[in-house]
Parts: sequence; structure tokens; C-alpha cells
Amino acid sequence: MKKFKRYLVTSALPYANGPIHIGHLAGVYVPSDIYSRYLRLRGEDVISICGSDEHGVPITLKARNEGVTPKEIVDRYHAVNKKAFEDFGIAFDIYSRTSNKIHYETASEFFLKLYNNGEFTEKTTEQYYDEEAGCFLADRYIMGTCPHCGNESAYGDQCERCGTSLSPSDLINPHSTVSGSKPVLRETLHWYLPLDRYEPWLRKWILEDHKEWKTNVYGQCKSWLDQGLQPRAVSRDLDWGVPVPVKNAEGKVLYVWFDAPIGYISATKELTPDWEKYWKDNETKMVHFIGKDNIVFHCIIFPVMLKAEGTYILPENVPANEFLNLENDKISTSRNWAVWLHEYLEDFPGKQDVLRYALCSSAPETKDNDFTWKEFQARNNNELVAILGNFVNRTLVLTNNYYDGNVPPVGKADPKDESVLKELPGLKENVENSLETFRFREALKEAMNVARLGNKYLADAEPWKVIKTDPERVKTIMNIALQITANITIILEPFLPFSMAKLRTWLNISRLDWNEAGKTNLLKTGHKINKPGLLFEKIEDDEIIRQVDKLMATKKTNESAAMILAPAKDSVSFDDFTKLDLRTATVLEAEKVPKTTKLLKLKIDTGIDVRTIVSGIAEYFEPESLIGKQISIVANLEPRKIKGIESKGMILMAEDKDGRLFIVAPEGKVNNGSIIK
Ligand code: 2FM
Ligand code: ZN
Repeated sequence: MKKFKRYLVTSALPYANGPIHIGHLAGVYVPSDIYSRYLRLRGEDVISICGSDEHGVPITLKARNEGVTPKEIVDRYHAVNKKAFEDFGIAFDIYSRTSNKIHYETASEFFLKLYNNGEFTEKTTEQYYDEEAGCFLADRYIMGTCPHCGNESAYGDQCERCGTSLSPSDLINPHSTVSGSKPVLRETLHWYLPLDRYEPWLRKWILEDHKEWKTNVYGQCKSWLDQGLQPRAVSRDLDWGVPVPVKNAEGKVLYVWFDAPIGYISATKELTPDWEKYWKDNETKMVHFIGKDNIVFHCIIFPVMLKAEGTYILPENVPANEFLNLENDKISTSRNWAVWLHEYLEDFPGKQDVLRYALCSSAPETKDNDFTWKEFQARNNNELVAILGNFVNRTLVLTNNYYDGNVPPVGKADPKDESVLKELPGLKENVENSLETFRFREALKEAMNVARLGNKYLADAEPWKVIKTDPERVKTIMNIALQITANITIILEPFLPFSMAKLRTWLNISRLDWNEAGKTNLLKTGHKINKPGLLFEKIEDDEIIRQVDKLMATKKTNESAAMILAPAKDSVSFDDFTKLDLRTATVLEAEKVPKTTKLLKLKIDTGIDVRTIVSGIAEYFEPESLIGKQISIVANLEPRKIKGIESKGMILMAEDKDGRLFIVAPEGKVNNGSIIK
């Protein structure tokens, strides 16, 4: 395997249009943080880069919905997300933003270099334009029916139901998401990156040279390449973004997926004047951590941009994860079906590592995976508390009890001791191998095996019994248990940074280098340790029930909101409509129709007469509450006999999602008999 001099680790820049949830953490940021922490511990030259993606239609749409400027949106969520990452110990070397000046300069320069090299093709095409809103409809500004799966809510850039990448012209029955109007076609000029020209090169670079990439990543790339690549527009008619830095480009900005990955470069520039050694030296290993929806951009488009520019390195690996579901349902911001990081911290203060652990243990590495609160509880109680916490606690408490916190000397090791000590270097290597091949679940399992080993060792050696018969032997047992504990502070540090910092304080040691792991003399005889606290606490059922109930309440709200509307009826002529005599009236008397549960008999003043209407609204209104109320009626409905009473007309009611009825009435008081039109 090639040895690299330094590492450049990037994590997908999240859009600054909403807060981060557990899906983001599990898919991208926990793995990238574990990887970067591991490399740092190994003493490598590594930088971990991230920041906010602040351009693109997701931002402008959110701003439009809230009636604020895009700047207000990105300022808000940049701060929220930066804090969330810090709170969860995601230790980026920089968390930058693509609205920074340095990013505008870097992205413009990058575009210009490709432009001047003749890398782009310029094309005038007809694109959808919203005449009401006065703007072109790129990406998510336009919706319509997906030609592949029939989803009526497909976006102009992607169908979220079947995952197909679309362009607005693919949509059937397109409509503007800005004004709702039907768009017209208008000519516009754009710059295209000719991906097709790079197809042979990509085929070799990915399909032959990077067979080691994860199968989900490799497979998606192969499928894109096998379908044949098309030139891709890298500009948009929008007023939010990096302006296209050439003449005749007023009102045009760089496509967000052109500028966002350049954000990795500008963030590195912001971090260090020495940025070029990370980006332009073949001895740097660049790794992009992303979610599966970003694969094409990081494996095909950005590499083509870098290759076309000519002076940059390419990623060595792109370990994309699949998606995390929550309690058997797709995580969704708009349906509030998520565990938000800030809410988690309110409910489980100080338990960041528990979430990191649970998310890494069930990370969606090879297929979509499900997060459940029950499993979260089990991971905490059965693994963190029962294995890791238990071992560490017993070791530190016994050392304090027996030796006043001084590390006892190791005596003659018996074969059992030796076999335990011999296992440590192997476990460390297993963790390394898994981490270097981006198998984080497996790496965590191997790392926890160190605690399992220690737990079993103590359970077998039973120092609490032996102390009564052979105190010399106990010194050796406790020394070995302490050495295992010191190993744990190293091997679990990338996964559980908060807990390992605590453990180091209790062991009274500073952070140890990864290369020290596997050694059995990390704590010298006589070294004084401190009194421990509890590393992990049991999570009780009621805490989990509360979380599940919260989600169930969300589900209920969503179901009500998504009530199924009756399908639209066929259109009627205006003449037909005018045949209906719709008027206002006032209820004079109201009483239940005897021997029925649903019917009320109402005497009403219609302005033209006083008449009786029988209406099926008894379940929703007390008769007396209706007296004096103004209502709307269909006055010329043919009279009908209901329960022997002649009913002349019908009251207009609106039915809500639960089937409840509400009176439809004029907003202000009007004369009885006023025409409704
Ligand atoms: O999917 C997303 O959330 C994008 N904002 C990721 C961008 S990654 C990079 F290219 F900046
Ligand atoms: Zn579709």
C-alpha cells in the first residue's frame, strides 16, 4: 500500500438551510471524525475540512418561504451547525463557509482558469422561465411529474422518490415552485463542463485504478459511466451565488455544485498559507466523506473539474455511506422526522459519546440502516455500561481501594496473563485495518474487544476473591488490568473522545500516541491514579419511552397534516355555476330531530323567506349554539323529505381532516339573502 506524507480529509459541506440531525452524523461526520482523530493520534500530518454550503436553491427557497434574505438564513444555520459539530466533538480543523470572500475569489479563479483553457462549451438553450416571478426556473424552482416513476412532486434536478437525476426539461407538466404558474420557454446562455470528453479517463481512473472503493460507491460510478456522460451546465440564472466571472454573464452565478466542492479548497486556504501542499502534492492522500446522494458530484464532476484545472490532486477514496432511517421511516426535515442534535443534548446532557457510539455501531455503511431508540438504549446499557464502564470502574476502584491509587508492581505473569497481554497488539492492528478500509462499525467492535478482553480477564482472575488468599498475585492482576485500561484510552479515543478524556484524567495521564497502543507498560509502577467517576450511566426505560412518544406525536401531526384531499372534480361552465342560488341566511331556531343522532331541524331566515332545513350536523353543534348564527346556503336545491320533514336547501359546511364540520359564513355580518358569488 502506498505510504502518504499527509492527509486531507473533507466532509460534505452541509447546506446552511436547516439544523443537523443524526442522519448527517452517522452518514458523514462521525466516520470522518473517527478517521481524522485516528490519523492525528498516529502523529500524521492531517487536516479535516468542513464548512457551510451557503449557495443553491435550497437556501433561496427557504429564505423565500420565511420571507427573509438568503443571508439571514445562512448566518443563522452556519452558527447553529458549527456549534452542533463542536458540541459533539466533531473536531474539524476549520468550519468555513462558502459566502466568504476567499471562497468567491477561489471559485472565480477556478472557473476562469477552465474558461481560459477552453474547457467549457457555451450553449444557448431554451429553459423554463416564470413570467409571473420574472426568473428562470433552475433545479428546485421547478416541479413536475417524474418521467421514470410518475411521482408528481419531482424536482427539476432530482426525483426524490426514485432518485433519478433530472433536468427541468425532463419533467412532465412542469410548474414553478415560486409562483405555481406554468412556465414558458426562454433562451438563455450557459457554460457546460463536457463530462463526456473525460469519460474514457474516468473509466480508467475509477473502474480500473480504484477497484478498492466501497461497492456502493464503485457501483454508482459504474452505472453513471455505463449510461454515458453528458455535458453539464455549471452556471445558473439566479441572483444568489458566486457571479460567473466573465463578460455577458449578468444575472448568472456558478452552479452550486460547481462552487461547493471548491469550498474545500478555499477553506484550506483560509486555514493555512501552506494549503498547496495539501492540494497539489501527490504525496497527500485526499479522502472525501459524503452521503450517497453526493457520490456523482465527488466521484465524477469534481474530479473532472480538478483534472481539467490540471494542478490539483484527486481523491484517493470517497467513502460514501448510505442513509440512516429513524424508527423505520425515512429521516425528513420537512416532516420533522429526525433526532435533532440540539434536542438530543437537551434530553441527554453530557451523553455525546453515547450517540456517537450508537450511530457508529449501526452506521449505514453498506445499506440503509435504521436507528431505533430501543437499540440506542441497548448499546448504552449492554455495551458501554456493562462492558466498558464496568471494566474501567472495577479496575480504578480496586486500585484505589487496595493500593491507595498507586499502580502496583507486576509480578510473575502466569500463562493466562501472558495470553491476555499478547492479544493487545493484534486488537490494535485489527482496529487499524478496519479504519484504513473505512469499515467503522467493524473498527468499533474491534476496539470494544479490548474492553471485552479486560472484562473477561477480571471476571476470570477474580481479584476481589484472591485478595484474601494471595495479595501478591492481585498486584499482577491489577497491573495488567490497568495496562489494558491505558490501552483503551488510546484505542477508543477516536470513537469516544469525551469519555476517553475523562478516563485519562482518572488515570492521571496525558493523551498517548496511537503507536503506544499494544504496549503493556504504559503505566509505571507507583504511578498515582485519581478517584474515578462513572464513565457511563444506565439509560432507563422511561427516558426511551419519552423519545418514542415524541416521535409518535410527530407522526400523528404529520398524518393529520397529510389528510387525503378529495380529488378535483370535473370543471363546470360558468352558466352551470350561476344556476346555483347561494345566499346568506340566519338561524332562527334549532332543535334535534327526534330519534336521530345526526340530524338538526333548523328554521332559517333567508331574506326571501323563512324556511326549514334539515342538516346532518347534530354531532358537531349544540342546537342552541347555532341560534343567531349567520350561515351560507344553497337556496334552490330541490326540497327533500327527511324523516318526514320537508327540507328546503342545504347549509354549506367545510370538513376538516378529522371529519369535523365548520360553518362556512361571511367574514362580516351581511344582510340575509345576500348572494354568494
Ligand atoms: O448535499 C449537501 O448537503 C451538499 N450541501 C453537500 C456539498 S458537499 C461539497 F461539495 F461541498
Ligand atoms: Zn421518479
